[in-house]
Amino acid sequence: MSYKIAIDGPAGAGKSTVAKIISKELGYVYIDTGAMYRAFGLFLVNNNIDVNNEEEISKVVDKVNISIKFVQNEQHIYLNGEDVTDMIRTPIISEAASSCSVHACVRTKLVSMQQELARSTSVVMDGRDIGSVVLPDANLKIFLTASVEVRAKRRIKDYEEKGIKKNLDEVMKEIEERDYRDTHRDNSPLTQVKDAILIDSSNMNIDEVVDKIISLADGGSSR
Ligand code: DC
Repeated sequence: MSYKIAIDGPAGAGKSTVAKIISKELGYVYIDTGAMYRAFGLFLVNNNIDVNNEEEISKVVDKVNISIKFVQNEQHIYLNGEDVTDMIRTPIISEAASSCSVHACVRTKLVSMQQELARSTSVVMDGRDIGSVVLPDANLKIFLTASVEVRAKRRIKDYEEKGIKKNLDEVMKEIEERDYRDTHRDNSPLTQVKDAILIDSSNMNIDEVVDKIISLADGGSSR
């Protein structure tokens, strides 16, 4: 029997960091669905296609081939055969991913890929619509959030590690805009589903969040 953990929440809440650790501890596969929207956004940017033009995007959907390989439980993402794992974590691609993810043609393609990846294996999957659309029958659903300021500070740290310098106001604005778009789109907006457990990580460190989720999974006999 496979066990599925869905972690949804806004940008910078720490979803991927905790999901990675939890998947290692439980021996599950970790699937970062945001990386797929980012790879799609990268395709559009590389090919000068307007991320807001659904008609143009629908014409190229079939040309976008996204695949995932796991190297020592690390997810590598491939766009038309090229490993783009290190190219998708820039502010431009964050923006492109969030913008193109509003279109139904993009979501339909990526959601069915995600469901297929999780079909016969235990997974920890993070994103925005995992508990609501991708894995509505997940055994454990978490809605992980934190204040905008805390999330912005975490993002600045990530950027610094990549040599990108940004100030707090700028990143808070970036996050607020992304939150607005992710929660107000017509197609599968980010929302806390009824059966998801809310964790606000504003005053928690990573270990505390991981322990909390693992104890919830243990309660549901995940191993
Ligand atoms: O989790 P992330 O920051 O890497 O995601 C990038 C964007 O992709 C996010 O702003 C919205 C979109 N996304 C989505 O619409 N649905 C998902 N399941 C995951 C991400």
